[in-house]
Amino acid sequence: MELLRICISLTVIWCLLEMGASNPQTVLLNQGCSMFNVTSFSGFSRNLNATLTELRGQLDKGMHFAVAQEATGSDPVYAMVQCRNYMSRNDCISCFSTASSQIRNCSAANGARVIFDGCFLRYESNMFYQESTQVGNLGICGGSTASQQNVFGTTVERLLGDLVKATPKIDSFFAASREEVGGVNGNVTAYGVAQCMETIDEKGCMECLKVALANIQRCPPDSDGRAVDTGCFLRYSDSPFFGANYTIDLKPFLKTRNTTKRDALIGGLVGGGGLLLLITLLLFWVRKSRNNMAVPQEDVEAPPELQGPLTYTYKELNFATTNFSQQNKLGEGGFGEVYKNGRVVAVKKLAISKSEKVKAEFDTEVKLISNVHHRNLVRLVGCCSKGPELLLVYEFMPNGSLDKHLFGEGHGSLNWKQRFDIIVGTAKGLAYLHEEFHACIIHRDIKPSNILLDRDLQPKIADFGLVRLLPEDQTHLSTKFAGTL
Ligand SMILES: *[C@@H]1O[C@H](CO)[C@@H](O)[C@H](O)[C@H]1NC(C)=O
Ligand SMILES: *[C@@H]1O[C@H](CO)[C@@H](O)[C@H](O)[C@H]1NC(C)=O
Ligand SMILES: *[C@@H]1O[C@H](CO)[C@@H](O)[C@H](O)[C@H]1NC(C)=O
Ligand SMILES: *[C@@H]1O[C@H](CO)[C@@H](O)[C@H](O)[C@H]1NC(C)=O
Ligand SMILES: *[C@@H]1O[C@H](CO)[C@@H](O)[C@H](O)[C@H]1NC(C)=O
Repeated sequence: MELLRICISLTVIWCLLEMGASNPQTVLLNQGCSMFNVTSFSGFSRNLNATLTELRGQLDKGMHFAVAQEATGSDPVYAMVQCRNYMSRNDCISCFSTASSQIRNCSAANGARVIFDGCFLRYESNMFYQESTQVGNLGICGGSTASQQNVFGTTVERLLGDLVKATPKIDSFFAASREEVGGVNGNVTAYGVAQCMETIDEKGCMECLKVALANIQRCPPDSDGRAVDTGCFLRYSDSPFFGANYTIDLKPFLKTRNTTKRDALIGGLVGGGGLLLLITLLLFWVRKSRNNMAVPQEDVEAPPELQGPLTYTYKELNFATTNFSQQNKLGEGGFGEVYKNGRVVAVKKLAISKSEKVKAEFDTEVKLISNVHHRNLVRLVGCCSKGPELLLVYEFMPNGSLDKHLFGEGHGSLNWKQRFDIIVGTAKGLAYLHEEFHACIIHRDIKPSNILLDRDLQPKIADFGLVRLLPEDQTHLSTKFAGTL
């Protein structure tokens, strides 16, 4: 009896300690570095230190969200920190401290982010405060299977749906709520929070949370699910992760109100000229999940090619290439190192005018090309035909194009074995296009700059299937037009 009493009181004390104890919630959900290095590291580092100090100062005052920027010198820094609103001031600061030491992992990169359960820290060399949802948004499922699976699933769905509807209408852009599974007498409870960046508007918050909802929906019956994005955060669990006093009644915010449909994308015309204008790099967010969070069925690391051609929005690709900036242009002044963990692709902007006819041909052509799978052919990952330009997203080839190795910087670097492999591989790729693929595809513009080299210097032919998109008078590409050695 006595032993039992002691055990019970110890348990109670332990529980109280747990409740009162600090918990900075530093379970890592996502992290990553930008792939571009700063021009002046010391200047950038000074700016970064100043912004982090400034952020810290604002958190000291009890804020849960803060931005800071320092634009001295050649490399400005814009930084942002967000704590979940249920975090105490001390927990928020301690989460921020962990984040700011971890984020320094990125050495000379001009941008980085870390997202924990409790907080989100990010800096970039450009202003990013208005970003709502971006490429790389991610759902992370894990934990054990919740009891009463089916009811739990429907309860979570309802709870998250309500949170997603309500949060954009709440001034703080934060909401925490709970719902008993199987009604008030249920013995299981679903807990959820939703939060948006305070620098985006209601519409951006809504858009972001909708994406988050889609990402998290596959999680039940897992007991835990999270969705991360640049502009918002969504999480549920079957155990409480926030103080009970933060729970609010969502009902007043759920009254429907018609929102006008909008389409931010304006179709425009691009003057037609050459085929290839710009190839840019795109760093996808790190799609890492913690080993203690088992990822069910659908593996987030699954290569994109297994999902067929993806349709990207113009906005996403525009973001990923920083407005198709000069800096992200391949082959002109070194795009530099691709950081580990990053998923990188190349985006090609087609310089052909975007008439209805061309667009229809583009869609047909893309469907065709995306079904071509061969070791020596560059794989098409996705496309975007809505927006001012026609864009194709390809797998990225770390060793660039063959012409660089023959005539450019890498001049003379290939040995005979490598050259032979490149010749045979290229021939195999062409033979496949001509004879083995069900529709015969004639390339018509084979040249060293269209032969890309992968990590092992194996060749992959690029640009096949595009010639048909060119106007009649441009189909015969002369050496003058191609301008290649
Ligand atoms: C940070 O550093 C650790 C250890 O040095 C490494 O395991 C981890 O991959 C790094 N993270 C990034 C984003 O570079
Ligand atoms: C910025 O802070 C880091 C870590 O505290 C320190 O190592 C570095 O020297 C600082 N850089 C500058 C330029 O002050
Ligand atoms: C909750 O109730 C269900 C039946 O209503 C039961 O199967 C389950 O074991 C209970 N779970 C807990 C944690 O008590
Ligand atoms: C909730 O309770 C904690 C103390 O347990 C307190 O610090 C906090 O301000 C409360 N929050 C709200 C929103 O009432
Ligand atoms: C970026 O800087 C890091 C560390 O200074 C260096 O290792 C890396 O090679 C640089 N990358 C590029 C592309 O310059």
